[in-house]
Amino acid sequence: MRRRPLPTDMASKKSIVILTGAGISAESGLGTFRDKDGLWTKYDLEEVATPQGFARNPVLVHDFYNARRRNLIEAAPNAAHYALAELEKNWDGDFLLVTQNVDDLHERAGSERLLHMHGELLKIRCERCQDVGRWTGDLDLATACTACGTSGSLRPHVVWFGEMPLHMEEIYAALENCDLFLSIGTSGQVYPAAGFVAEVRKVGRAHTVELNLERSDGYSLFAEGIYGPATEIVPAYVRRLLNGGI
Ligand code: OAD
Repeated sequence: MRRRPLPTDMASKKSIVILTGAGISAESGLGTFRDKDGLWTKYDLEEVATPQGFARNPVLVHDFYNARRRNLIEAAPNAAHYALAELEKNWDGDFLLVTQNVDDLHERAGSERLLHMHGELLKIRCERCQDVGRWTGDLDLATACTACGTSGSLRPHVVWFGEMPLHMEEIYAALENCDLFLSIGTSGQVYPAAGFVAEVRKVGRAHTVELNLERSDGYSLFAEGIYGPATEIVPAYVRRLLNGGI
């Protein structure tokens, strides 16, 4: 396939890091966490998204993630996911997409340089042997680990509150070296992701842009803000970038 020629400005191998959150998948029908009707208005995160909650009531936690897994299987990527995959294909410099989302809509849209810092809903992990495998059905206490055979030791491969996010070394290295940092569809309330923009600003050379439905808590830390539904503002911003504007 022929690559679209890039303007000279873009050909100078600029490095880009993009952070996404639940807002990018909202128009695919996956709920966000903190908006009106968000998941954390209906469920107690201490009960369903902490290791302590899982130890107290694993059935409740499995039910919560089973329902989310079923929703995800029915959902499809939207124009914002596709636009980021298109950007990656046409970008000459370093490119890294970091998502807080546990859905697989970026992959299904074609993104490849992608890190899931909060894990993946379509993967499970054995707490006994640490084996990680793909899982698309329901999970319960009777399910046995295919690697070690233990039952009752499997959990969703997602990061819960109080646990270490994944891939942090690689993410911070990319943040320190980027020329452009985009934050898309995240409320900026959960660390360490909420601190990425400050990390980028410490180095001082990158342009920083927030793209969100509305101003996030940390909007004033960004040099530029673009507001509206992700399916409109992300494709428009990607067109602008590929036409040579940062
Ligand atoms: P939040 O629910 O906190 O924030 C979603 C953001 O998306 C809000 O700022 C909305 O305004 C915005 N938004 C909603 N609809 C949008 C749309 N159509 N287009 C653009 N923006 C839209 O979700 P996150 O910031 O992703 O962690 O939450 C971060 C982490 O908190 C999650 O990864 C999860 C959660 O608890 C864990 O479970 C560990």
